Amino acid sequence: MKLPQIKTSLPGPRAKKLIKLDKAFVSPSYTRVYPLVVDKAKGLWVHDVDGNIFLDFTAGIATNSTGHCHPRVVKAIKSQADRLLHMSGTDFYYTPQIILAEKLATMAPGRSARRAYFGNSGAEAVEAAFKLARWHTKRELNIAFFGAFHGRTMGALSLTASKAVQKKNYNPLVPGITHIPYAYCYRCAYNLTYPKCGLYCVHWVEDTLFRTTVPAEEVGAIFVEPIQGEGGYIVPPPGFHKELYKIAKKHGILYVADEVQSGMGRTGKMFAMEHFGVTADIMALAKGIASGLPLGAMIAKTKIMNWEAGSHASTFGGNPLSCQAAMATIELLENNLMKNAEKQGKRLMGGLFELQKTFECMGDVRGKGLMVAVELVKDRETKEPATGMRPRVIKRAFEKGLLVLGCGENSIRFCPSLTVKPGEVDTCLSIFEEALKEVAG
Ligand SMILES: Cc1ncc(COP(=O)(O)O)c(C=O)c1O
Repeated sequence: MKLPQIKTSLPGPRAKKLIKLDKAFVSPSYTRVYPLVVDKAKGLWVHDVDGNIFLDFTAGIATNSTGHCHPRVVKAIKSQADRLLHMSGTDFYYTPQIILAEKLATMAPGRSARRAYFGNSGAEAVEAAFKLARWHTKRELNIAFFGAFHGRTMGALSLTASKAVQKKNYNPLVPGITHIPYAYCYRCAYNLTYPKCGLYCVHWVEDTLFRTTVPAEEVGAIFVEPIQGEGGYIVPPPGFHKELYKIAKKHGILYVADEVQSGMGRTGKMFAMEHFGVTADIMALAKGIASGLPLGAMIAKTKIMNWEAGSHASTFGGNPLSCQAAMATIELLENNLMKNAEKQGKRLMGGLFELQKTFECMGDVRGKGLMVAVELVKDRETKEPATGMRPRVIKRAFEKGLLVLGCGENSIRFCPSLTVKPGEVDTCLSIFEEALKEVAG
């Protein structure tokens, strides 16, 4: 079985030199949690510049959906590179953008006809959704959720309510957005318990919010992650989306699903909203869509995407290389990888539930498919977040050759590429166990 190989102290000598350069020349706004300087990668295995080999359970923040440098994806990019690198789908037509739009529009759930808009990132996909919702409804108010991460451009950032540092010094942002509690049942904002709560958090929108401060007829859209990503991989209970969607429809409000992290097969279905039986009006996609090439897509019902020529565009959006990478990615997801995500996700969650029996600090284990997180607590009864423990566990895992990232305030996420093999899941689990043992005792 292939195992990580750590041959130098971390960071190694080459990594140290590059990090010094980075510190001098690269924006200090990035949040590196450990000193990994990547040289090359294949599948789930990442080589650093000193020859150390790591098992990657981050997939470049849930983005290398088909694994690093999948041969099918690389081949599609290379052959497109020989034909056309760029022409701008904004002003001209070219085959890869048209074909991908058709594919995305037809594979989106629901019977309504759809169209696609292309940008380069998750933030741009959300930004486009935000603008389209405003354009189409002419309504000025919007609803989003605490804990949500929708991106960092000014519009997307206005919808984001993840960490204050992301918003600090950027006000005033886009006005008219009300953030409300997500269905985070492990830490219910209303101190209630599902299902006895009767989905109070959803009905509160109509019974309190619309009645007191936010006139429903002025609300253009509800922006919601099917499963909250950066906020802590929070899976809402059954009925949450369905009930909220019903309320939205009753008041002519658009339901916008931010599938940037949860979409493209990661949860075992192409779109995470499919787990909840809701078809969103508008959907934002990015991350896993093109296996690591920059691409964002906003898919909307044709009757909603009725904005006029010139109302929104981007020079690089729908770049031919990214579109070809996306076509190859989708083919791989449809063939086997989505199924693998479901299967290996179960193996991973099963292993984590086993570890939870031993480690008191594993307060909650949750997820769907390969969107899995462990919430670390000081005490299972009080659920006091073990925020200090999280970076230590992540760092220890890194030193042992396992790459993981945090999410939420005190959770560790596991979001490997969808090609992950059973043996790689087991290796991840055993390194995670060792790291936990060493940090938590
Ligand atoms: C749900 C969600 N929406 C939007 C974004 C923003 O994507 P990007 O970083 O590509 O702009 C992210 C990124 O983590 C995300 O998780």
